[in-house]
Amino acid sequence: MTHAIRLLKPEETEARRAALIDILVDSVTHGASVNFVLPMSAEKAAAWWDGALAGHARGERLIFVAEADGRVDGTVQLIPAPQENQPHRADLSKMLVHSRARHQGLGAALMQAAEAEARRIGRTLLTLDTETGSDGERLYTRLGWTKFGEVPGFALTADGNTRQAASFFYKTL
Ligand SMILES: CC(C)(COP(=O)(O)OP(=O)(O)OC[C@H]1O[C@@H](n2cnc3c(N)ncnc32)[C@H](O)[C@@H]1OP(=O)(O)O)[C@@H](O)C(=O)NCCC(=O)NCCS
Repeated sequence: MTHAIRLLKPEETEARRAALIDILVDSVTHGASVNFVLPMSAEKAAAWWDGALAGHARGERLIFVAEADGRVDGTVQLIPAPQENQPHRADLSKMLVHSRARHQGLGAALMQAAEAEARRIGRTLLTLDTETGSDGERLYTRLGWTKFGEVPGFALTADGNTRQAASFFYKTL
């Protein structure tokens, strides 16, 4: 793997906004269940990313990217729980690798970078959910996350045709 896995600084996001929008459109277009249904558009993805980048600028979420030759091929977010009784917990969210760059270890490397940062900032309990049976589910299982349940019919599949279960995971660092 020749990619650099980096935590984005707020001042670096504007230059990567278009690439992040492209990764989200690409993932949904290829069937990922990440809160959107087809038809996916750059406008929907831009509206979502603008909210996420604003949260990043406020320090409410940390955004990691996998980059090579100035190209962003993957991203994941670490969202520290805002509740005052959960100073030790964070959510992992929007784990996306562009379809052109999958099966090279980027997903695993992004997760490991996010977990290392979580440990560094004292967030030692991580939680996430993903579509049951998805590539994400396999990735999290392989990285030692514990699945603690499934909710049937949790969300529509990306094509909007079927309600699919979600799997809920945690990891203690
Ligand atoms: C889930 C996702 C992030 C995985 O990204 P990825 O970069 O392909 O992940 P990895 O490369 O680490 O692992 C994927 C597979 O490639 C394999 N792999 C890793 N490095 C490899 C290499 N050098 N050569 C061949 N295969 C390799 C892994 O063993 C794994 O195999 P498996 O799926 O059969 O278990 C990606 O498929 C994706 O973005 N999907 C759409 C969005 C999504 O569903 N996100 C999760 C939402 S919660």
